[in-house]
Amino acid sequence: MPKENLILAIETSCDDTAMAVVRVKNGKFEILSNIISSQIKLHQKYGGVYPYLAKREHEKNLSPVYQKALKSARIQASDISHIALTIGPGLSPCLWAGINFAVSLAKELKIAIAPTNHIEGHLLSVLAKDDIEWPAVGLIVSGGHTQLILAGGLGKYEILGETRDDAAGECFDKTARIMGLKYPGGPEIAQTAKDFKGKSKIELPRPMINSKDYDFSFSGLKTATLNHFNNQKKVTKKYIANLAFEVQQAIIDVLLKKTVRAAKDFGIKTVIVSGGVSANMELKKQFGRKIKELRGVNLLVPEAKLCTDNAVMIAIAGHFSKKTKNYDKIKAQPNLRI
Ligand code: KG4
Ligand code: ZN
Repeated sequence: MPKENLILAIETSCDDTAMAVVRVKNGKFEILSNIISSQIKLHQKYGGVYPYLAKREHEKNLSPVYQKALKSARIQASDISHIALTIGPGLSPCLWAGINFAVSLAKELKIAIAPTNHIEGHLLSVLAKDDIEWPAVGLIVSGGHTQLILAGGLGKYEILGETRDDAAGECFDKTARIMGLKYPGGPEIAQTAKDFKGKSKIELPRPMINSKDYDFSFSGLKTATLNHFNNQKKVTKKYIANLAFEVQQAIIDVLLKKTVRAAKDFGIKTVIVSGGVSANMELKKQFGRKIKELRGVNLLVPEAKLCTDNAVMIAIAGHFSKKTKNYDKIKAQPNLRI
């Protein structure tokens, strides 16, 4: 008897060990479990992710996360029809931790693996809840990536633009550090910025906001923030709130302007915003307002727990990827492009 389409997804591209069990039925995705073991506490000490430290943590966490994923989905290992696995982009040692685990499990269960692209996972994560009307433009904004993708349909992707230096999430993380806020900086800046009321007294640059391409650059914003902070005589709570507000707004302004322009230029039907930074409430609010003005364009943002790294999105993208039992051919691809 053929097994039900029950996917176990494994995601270890950065600092989260994530697994999910997703049932696919009549083209719909039903999330049976979504387990994430975060290494945030460990990496907070260093203000960033150290690949070999992260790899060791993945190796420790993979087995318990797997057990939890099965238990919370109330399934047995023998129920799994195949594995969806992130092979890139990401940190090479971390990707290998996931690959080694997946391959040994797949061999044991005699099932296939669907090697999956992490960025495609972020892009398609909205399918957990919504259908995508094509063509779409996807803005993938996370700690490692800032890409604007034109999507004509499933598997038909073209990168319109991307960051030339730091990713948007990285900019949140680095400027938060300057302000003495914790890692990861995105949620910290968002929280701190809430305390600021009125008109910003600080003016930071919006790099490349008017450039004719769809590229981004955030390292200048980080430097401008550092300079502003260093020139400030008295660093008060109010000052930090204003600085956090201005950094957040500068990032939103640039992301929004280029996404809207792409939406207009390509006559698209759907704007998808995904990746860790899309968990930002202010960004969501401002995108919502602006995209509404583009009549006939729908904005899709995944629910918060599917914005940041997770394995549900890998199950979804993996469902459309080619499966293989040629395990030895599965290799980490740190610089994999969509
Ligand atoms: O997608 P993700 O979990 O991992 C990567 O693939 O990088 O994204 C993590 C990034 C971090 O840089 C974090 O600061 C940022 O997403 N982030 C946020 C928020 N929540 C997470 N940035 C802005 N506002 C947030 N609420
Ligand atoms: Zn990610």
